[in-house]
Amino acid sequence: MSETRKVITVFGTRPEAIKLFPLVHVLDADDRFDSRVLVSGQHRGMLDQVLQIADIQPHHDLDVMQPNQSLDALTARLLTGIGEVLDKEQPDWVIVQGDTATAMCGALAAYYRKIPVCHVEAGLRSGDIYHPWPEEVNRKVIGSFAALHAAPTETSANALKRENVDPASVHVTGNTVIDALHWITSKVAAEPQLAGDLAGVEARFAGKRIIGVTSHRRENFGDGMRAIANAIRRLAAREDVALIFPVHLNPNVREIMQGELEGLDNVALLEPLDYPHFARLLDICTLMLTDSGGVQEEAPALGKPVLVMRETTERPEGVEAGTAKLVGTDEEAIVREVERLLDDENAYAEMARAHNPFGDGKSALRIADMLAG
Ligand code: UD1
Ligand code: UDP
Repeated sequence: MSETRKVITVFGTRPEAIKLFPLVHVLDADDRFDSRVLVSGQHRGMLDQVLQIADIQPHHDLDVMQPNQSLDALTARLLTGIGEVLDKEQPDWVIVQGDTATAMCGALAAYYRKIPVCHVEAGLRSGDIYHPWPEEVNRKVIGSFAALHAAPTETSANALKRENVDPASVHVTGNTVIDALHWITSKVAAEPQLAGDLAGVEARFAGKRIIGVTSHRRENFGDGMRAIANAIRRLAAREDVALIFPVHLNPNVREIMQGELEGLDNVALLEPLDYPHFARLLDICTLMLTDSGGVQEEAPALGKPVLVMRETTERPEGVEAGTAKLVGTDEEAIVREVERLLDDENAYAEMARAHNPFGDGKSALRIADMLAG
């Protein structure tokens, strides 16, 4: 019998937790692994929402979040804290996901100890180091030395090969976000009370078409966010639509969005929704307006058009399939593209096709097999 591998899964923010809980569930249930979880606490409330619904009790929690944290102070705390846990745990593998500061520091701390890194959601590239910022560089750093790369699609696998990554270390696994979406859908089907009416706003907006909104990108802080808020205000002047916007806890987002949009009749600014309720928003909306990475993957899977408030995307698959469209952060362009989808049935029908280039819901199982090697 081959030896049990000790693996430590490191994450710290909401999207990492959503995309890694399916893998943690698989590793926990698989005798080939001794599975540990280290959360950095880069996010607090938004991380805990996911840990709770996915029923994960971390073995280590660094609790590093500070209000309005700077990238350099955050990076320093993460690197030191994660390194200490790795010294104690001495794992055979470190698993990180995506492109956050926690992922980059988790990988770097492992590399400093010559522990091999498995990178989940490897190979995403926008080709622009400032969009998204600092995520594009974070994932390039991880990709430059990871021992195993779980690329969600052929496109991402090819991006790694173009960077001379050893092809034998690159596996196309799909994106675990689809595993997460399947899991939450089944859970809510079994326990519908987990995703009741969205904070009471559904009754308030009865008969209107719902636009779901999220926004948090660092490169959009300031002018970009103000343009997004202006576009939302103009769209909210229409009688036939309502915008439901769970506002990210980053104070740079909240200050602008609350200042510009609070009190409008057709806009509901909500606290971050837990995953069952966010899945409900994806289900009831006519379209999503977002700068999020994960939402660009989830909405197409559910046949919901996504207008992406960014200049570039590292997830071109949705755009190529016609279910996502880049609209940037120009107020006019956002209003024009949303209105086109609202008023032109054919344009809407062309985008509203369930399309799932990002996986089949079995990515975590493939990653476990890849790790077991
Ligand atoms: C982080 C990631 C970004 C990811 C995003 C997902 C980095 C550099 N950025 O951005 O890649 O797309 O998460 O949401 O890794 N806050 C809270 N409670 C929370 C979460 C955040 O109060 O649960 C506030 C705090 O004041 C915190 C601030 O938001 O200091 C910023 O959090 P941080 O993780 O540094 O950046 P995000 O913008 O959330
Ligand atoms: N999400 C959530 N509640 C919300 C907003 C988003 O559960 O109020 C989920 C969403 O379904 C997706 C993930 O959070 O899986 C995306 O996280 P975020 O937009 O914060 O980060 P990004 O994906 O841009 O890194």
